[in-house]
Amino acid sequence: MRGITKVFPGVKALAEVDLTVQAGSIHAICGENGAGKSTLMKVLSGVYPHGDYDGEVLLDGGVCEFKGIRSSERAGIAIIHQELALVPYLSIAENVFLGNELNRYGVMSWDRTLVEAQELLDRVGLAESPQTRVADIGVGKQQLVEIAKALSKKVRLLILDEPTAALNDSDSRHLLDLIVGLRGHGITSILISHKLNEVMKVADTVTIMRDGQVIETLPVDDALTEDRIVRGMVGRDLTHRFPPRETREIGEVAFAVRNWTVLHPIDQHRKVVDDVSLHVRSGEIVGIAGLMGAGRTELAMSVFGRTYGRYVSGKVFKGDTEISTRTVSEAIRNGVAYATEDRKHLGLNLMDSIAASITLPSLRKVSTRGVVNPHEEAGVGERFRTSMRIKAPSVAAVTGKLSGGNQQKVVLSKWLYTDPDVLILDEPTRGIDVGAKYEIYTIINDLAARGKAVVVISSELPELLGMCDRIYALSQGRLTGEVTGSEATQENLMRYMMKGRAQ
Ligand SMILES: Nc1ncnc2c1ncn2[C@@H]1O[C@H](COP(=O)(O)OP(=O)(O)OP(=O)(O)O)[C@@H](O)[C@H]1O
Ligand SMILES: [Mg+2]
Repeated sequence: MRGITKVFPGVKALAEVDLTVQAGSIHAICGENGAGKSTLMKVLSGVYPHGDYDGEVLLDGGVCEFKGIRSSERAGIAIIHQELALVPYLSIAENVFLGNELNRYGVMSWDRTLVEAQELLDRVGLAESPQTRVADIGVGKQQLVEIAKALSKKVRLLILDEPTAALNDSDSRHLLDLIVGLRGHGITSILISHKLNEVMKVADTVTIMRDGQVIETLPVDDALTEDRIVRGMVGRDLTHRFPPRETREIGEVAFAVRNWTVLHPIDQHRKVVDDVSLHVRSGEIVGIAGLMGAGRTELAMSVFGRTYGRYVSGKVFKGDTEISTRTVSEAIRNGVAYATEDRKHLGLNLMDSIAASITLPSLRKVSTRGVVNPHEEAGVGERFRTSMRIKAPSVAAVTGKLSGGNQQKVVLSKWLYTDPDVLILDEPTRGIDVGAKYEIYTIINDLAARGKAVVVISSELPELLGMCDRIYALSQGRLTGEVTGSEATQENLMRYMMKGRAQ
């Protein structure tokens, strides 16, 4: 790519960017949230067609003028976007071949569709039937479906925009092995990731971007360190990944869930959450660890307004008092907040402004006699834009146009503004750059220091170990263990997380 410049109203997303990727290599791109990584890849893959940007895209030395995704796909380029783009109400197989349906004389051939989908699922290691609806599998598995979909096209250059953000360690490893395997077959990959250890492990080269420009391109070899990449990204040294632990006052039990059981929304024989009891004290940060499908998100969502599955039994307490969280508004009114892991579908209205998104659950606070006061709303938005360092031209900007990491900050701001006593954070740092992660950890610590009860669900064990006072492990819907203090090690957690599973 030569001299690529891309301007949005009020934002110069890319300024004269040059990028050279060697055929048959794995080329990583790193940079802070909003640096322009996704935009650059959208130019490359024809999402922004020729004429929408300045500069040239060259493939094997020839200039490409893609009119759209279709024409870049014909040239062998496939992109898997940061935010998944599957159709929830179609099956896995239908999604894999969407737009490239297998047919005979114009009639869908379902047998072939299912057989070939199954082969692709095997290749990406997804143990689900091709006929399963995409809505019924988690974000992590949906990511694997996206990859299967890319493989179904004859891909030469595979662009992966934060593919492992939603995956746990073993699934990430599996996926990265897959990319390495593809390299063995001559497929080139461009990998955008905030997980620098992955970059170090699989990439041949790394390009670092900052503020719409390429800062440097480095070979990934023994001389390269994660800290070196971080320095390029943020322009300074960042010595600690987690804020220092202050001794916090941990109080009485502030929030408890007892004997919580929830059934799968369709398969009514399956207990997705099975008799779970847990508690959080005020000032305490409690983690929930678990593999994909362990029921962590299902637990949180069903507690928060019963937004998942079929409720069977269980009670929610604040202190000694039972509270109702039967609906989302009741949960909010009772001081419970849940920041979802799926910001695009559940966390944000992508057509709404930053300010309106942040005030949405707390409209009363910015209204006078039932009418929203736009000035107050903008003021609140502005406050969070500054304190959370949301990168956007103004608080009137539509959240759908923010970079992934900045969208996440809006979701967090929204729940912070409800001033909850209990805050459940589901993968709060997914897709967040190292600098902003630190900011979010600091915010979590501050909340706890102010006596809030915080629950953190995360697939990144180092994050849980670095932040939490106590960690529960969940496996197949059951609580399988609890670790604190010196017991809290990756090994111990993993053992509990695997408990009762087949392998
Ligand atoms: N469609 C759009 N309209 C307006 N501004 C946009 C649009 N898409 C991206 N931007 C802006 O361009 C800049 C670069 O965004 P981009 O999504 O490329 O960042 P990124 O490096 O991928 O960040 P992240 O790590 O958070 O995903 C940001 O300031 C973003 O707000
Ligand atoms: Mg991005």
